[in-house]
Order: sequence, then C-alpha cells, then structure tokens
Amino acid sequence: MENTPNQLIDNCSQKIVVLRWGHRIHRDSRLTTHCALTARAMCASGFILADIEDKSIEKTVQGITKHWGGDFTFQMGLNWRSVIRDWKNKGGIVVHLTVYGENIQTSNALSRIRETGKNILLLIGSQKVPGEFYSTEISDFNIGVGNQPHSECSALAIFLDRFFEGKELTVDFEKAEVKIIPQQHGKNIKVNEEKT
Ligand SMILES: C[S@@+](CC[C@H](N)C(=O)[O-])C[C@H]1O[C@@H](n2cnc3c(N)ncnc32)[C@H](O)[C@@H]1O
Repeated sequence: MENTPNQLIDNCSQKIVVLRWGHRIHRDSRLTTHCALTARAMCASGFILADIEDKSIEKTVQGITKHWGGDFTFQMGLNWRSVIRDWKNKGGIVVHLTVYGENIQTSNALSRIRETGKNILLLIGSQKVPGEFYSTEISDFNIGVGNQPHSECSALAIFLDRFFEGKELTVDFEKAEVKIIPQQHGKNIKVNEEKT
C-alpha cells in the first residue's frame, strides 16, 4: 500500500513528468494551471510548461505544493525539442496524448508502456500540435483517451488514473501544511503545526 506519492512512484518504478505544449499567455492560463494541479494531485512528479514563461502559473503551482505538500516540480520556458532530446538521452520514453492515438481502453498500449519500465514524458497539447508530435522520432506512443476530442486536462487525469490504477487517489502528500480529513458532510482540515 502506498502512503505517499514518492512511495507510489517507487513501487511502480516509472515516474511521469508532464510537458505542456502550446500554452497561449492569458487565454490558456487557467487551463494550464488546472493541468499542472491535476498532474500534481494525481502523482505525476513534475510539469514543464514548454517555450514560454508565465509567472502567475508558477506562483500558483508552487504555492499549492508548499501548502498541500509533495515534491512536485514546475519548470517553464524550456525548449520542447531540448526537453524531449534530453529525456530520451536519459533513457526515458515519450507518450503523447492525442485524440488520434491508440485507444487506451481497446488497445494494449498501456501494458506496452508499463513493460518498457522507463520514465515517461507525457505530452499534452492545446492548439493544433506540430505534425511531428505523432512521429516515431518524437512520440514512442500516441494514446487516445477515447477517440473523441475533449480536453488536455481530462485526458491527463484519465491517463494518470489508469496508469496508477486509482492508487494515486489514496496517497498522503509529504511535508503538507494542511490535510483534509474526509467527511460525509462539512469540512475538516487538519493543520500541521510544525509546517506553518
Ligand atoms: C483541445 S485539444 C486540441 C486538439 C487539436 N485540435 C489537435 O489537432 O491536436 C488539446 C489537447 O487535448 C488533448 N486531447 C483532447 N482530446 C483527447 C483525447 N480524446 N485523447 C487524448 N488526448 C486528448 C491532446 O493532448 C490535445 O493536444
């Protein structure tokens, strides 16, 4: 049984970092923030906002991580080609979430991703992504979370939940200032006096 995100990652031996491509300043701020928070809450190890800097997103994500715990990393402004090249040079694979990809439910793609045992750079787009994203040079796997268009945030959440088999919803985040005690009704928040 995993108690923390790090234990969950250690037990499955593959870590996942999300790369967000195509963020448009102002227009995509809220959605990119939600993707980063979803990645964190569902036990990805980090988030890279490629090619652009948006300080307000960085502030929000780092603030949430400080308050709610965990070791989630947030980087921005990195060139997407360099990130992918470095990732592959370090032995990782690239998984691109796209409506056109192998269906996560009807194919054996998820098993094949697990069988690699390698760390995963998970690409999510926004506007139309470059055609080369679909190629074998960039993406080792193109995965459709169903083959109907929806959203990078929903695709990300479902992929992570399938990958971690729901265990990501049970973990306690390390170094948290606060923790929610689940209730049938009302709100109960435990404050960690040592951290505040
Ligand atoms: C709003 S969609 C835009 C897709 C865009 N029209 C294109 O051609 O790539 C933004 C992102 O959501 C993700 N996405 C949307 N639907 C998806 C699906 N069914 N499966 C996997 N990813 C999906 C992809 O990462 C995509 O780049």
